[in-house]
Amino acid sequence: MITGKYPNLRLRRSRKESWSRRLIQENTLSASDFILPIFIIDGLNKREQIASMPGVYRYTIDRLAQVVDRAVKKEIPMVALFPKIKKNLKNEMGTEALNENNLVCKAILEIKKKYKNQIGIMCDVALDPYTSHGHDGLIKSNQIINDETIEVLINQSLLQAEMGCDVLAPSDMMDGRIGKIRIALENSNYKDVQILSYAAKYASSFYGPFRDAVGSKKSLKGDKKTYQMDFRNSDEALREIALDIKEGADMIMVKPGLPYLDIIKSIKEKFKIPVFAYQVSGEYSLISNAIQKKLIDKHAIYESLVGFKRAGANAIVSYYADRIDEILKY
Ligand code: PBG
Repeated sequence: MITGKYPNLRLRRSRKESWSRRLIQENTLSASDFILPIFIIDGLNKREQIASMPGVYRYTIDRLAQVVDRAVKKEIPMVALFPKIKKNLKNEMGTEALNENNLVCKAILEIKKKYKNQIGIMCDVALDPYTSHGHDGLIKSNQIINDETIEVLINQSLLQAEMGCDVLAPSDMMDGRIGKIRIALENSNYKDVQILSYAAKYASSFYGPFRDAVGSKKSLKGDKKTYQMDFRNSDEALREIALDIKEGADMIMVKPGLPYLDIIKSIKEKFKIPVFAYQVSGEYSLISNAIQKKLIDKHAIYESLVGFKRAGANAIVSYYADRIDEILKY
């Protein structure tokens, strides 16, 4: 593969000037590569700062336009909605997930009313923002029960589809849920609703600030290792993905992002399916706090995002998405 020999070949020649570096660059980023996560809270006219995630806020429904306007103007293709519900609405079964007046349903209606199809809406399918124990599924005798959880996830999916959600994103890691949700959507005439499967989602410490942001951190009992993947494994990720593709997933998510670039790359090579990377809350917090403390400079953001593209990601879920135009200009 080596195509020449020093001194005839000097790779530094093409690196010398900025115009030349731009000509030979292999990867680029644009607003179209991003999905913006938005945290929603109950109440009126509020925007709350999330302490562990400098620059990220929770918005009440009436203030959503503030952030969605920005995303639309910057031509970000899609937002992802995450609710922080009041503690008294949480219970063992996560029943608030099926309330047609819950925060996510209200937010979908509001965004669709105002922006129509100018921007896509993606919603998590999982119970963790709604359960008192903070797990993604139902619990019986200390076990997260798979098949019973799927029945609830189907109803959560149908409800979100009914409200106008464009992309359902099951992030619960139960076995077999993609196929069951796909069938339910087909049967209820939501044939065009897409499924973005969090197929390779690892049991990770990098979700810490997110759990803070949706208020499930303090309540979480134990860990999620019986359903999320072991970070020592990569073949297993390919098996998860193969299954979800067969079951009807339109797109695949790898999560977290930066420590799992190898997974993105091998999925892309093997399956030729759209793959998204989730630069999760912990990654965001590490970079943002380090920049604030002047341990690294702000160009680290761009560098970390390009890494996903180099690995083969089609798009990136990132809390930086609403500031991407500034970041690309650094
Ligand atoms: C829950 C969910 C999590 C994230 C997105 N959906 C956390 C978890 O699995 O505990 C994490 C996102 C982030 O850390 O930015 N189903």
